[in-house]
Amino acid sequence: MTATVTLPDSQRYARSVEASKRVRWDVEADVIRGRRFDTAHKFLPDGLVLADAFTTLSPAEKRFVSQIQGRTYANVFGLVERFINAKVLELSQEHWFGDQHALEALVRFSDEELKHQALFRRIDAMVGDVLPDGYRFEIDANAVAHAVLGKSTWAVLALTLDIELFTQTHYLESIDHDTEVSELFKDVFLFHWKEESQHAILDELEWVRHDRDLTAAQRDRAVDEFIELVAAVDGILQAQAKADAAYFAATCGRAVGEAESRAVEPAFLKSYRWQYIHSGAQQPRFGKVLSSLITDTQGQRIQAALATLH
Ligand SMILES: [Fe+2]
Ligand SMILES: [Fe+2]
Repeated sequence: MTATVTLPDSQRYARSVEASKRVRWDVEADVIRGRRFDTAHKFLPDGLVLADAFTTLSPAEKRFVSQIQGRTYANVFGLVERFINAKVLELSQEHWFGDQHALEALVRFSDEELKHQALFRRIDAMVGDVLPDGYRFEIDANAVAHAVLGKSTWAVLALTLDIELFTQTHYLESIDHDTEVSELFKDVFLFHWKEESQHAILDELEWVRHDRDLTAAQRDRAVDEFIELVAAVDGILQAQAKADAAYFAATCGRAVGEAESRAVEPAFLKSYRWQYIHSGAQQPRFGKVLSSLITDTQGQRIQAALATLH
C-alpha cells in the first residue's frame, strides 16, 4: 500500500490539486506543436486495435483501420467527457461550503475535461484532413449525457472511474508495444493520461464518499444501473462498429464482399469493447475499489454482465 492511500481525504484532494498544477498542458503548445497526421503511421497501437482479429486484411489495411479507430477514439472521448464534466460540476456543489481543496480539485477536473473535449475536437478534424471523406459519428453527446445523468451518482462514478483508469492502459499500450504509432497520437495518450490520473483519484474519492450515504437497497439498485450504463456504452460501440466497418469497406480501395464485411464489423466491435469497457474493468485499481463497496453477489452480477460483451 502506498503512502498516498493512507492520507486523509482532504490531503488527497490537496495533492491532486498540486499534481494538476504541475502537469498542466496546453492543446496547441504542448500536444499539437504545429504537427499534422501522416497516414504512413498507425494512430492507435495494435494492442488497442487488436489488429490480429482483422484476419482478412493486409498490413496496410490494418493501418487504415487503426486510423479510423483513432478518429473514433477522439469522438468517443469527446462524448464521454460531456457527461463526466456535468457530473463533476454537480458533485462540486457538495463541497462549496466544505473542503476547499476538494472544491478546487473538482473545479480543475472540470476545466481539464473542457480542454480535453477541445483537444479531441481538434484531433477529429485533423484526422479528417488526412482520411477519405465519408466518416460518420452520429451519436449526440448531449443526448447521451442526459441519459447517463438519469442514473444514480454511484453508477455514473463507477463508469467514470472505469473510463478514466483505462486512459492509463491506452497510454501504456501506445509506448510499450508498437513502434509504428504516430508520435502525435502517442502524445495525445501521454498528455491525456497525465491529467486523467488525477481524475481517477478524484473519481475514487467521490465514489467512496458518496457510497457512505447509500442504504444497502440503494446500492443494490445502483449496481444494476451501472450494468445498464455499461450496456448503453456497448450499444454506442455496436452502432459505431457498424458505421466504421461500412466506412472501411467504402474507402479501402478494393471490393469488400458480404462475407468479409460480416467478419470486419465484429472485429471493430471487439476492438471497441476492449478499448472502452474491458481495458478499464480489468484494471486492478477498478476491481479493488469496486469490490470494497459491493457484496460478492453484486460482483458476480457485474462479472456476468461484462462476460456477455465478448
Ligand atoms: Fe479527459
Ligand atoms: Fe478525465
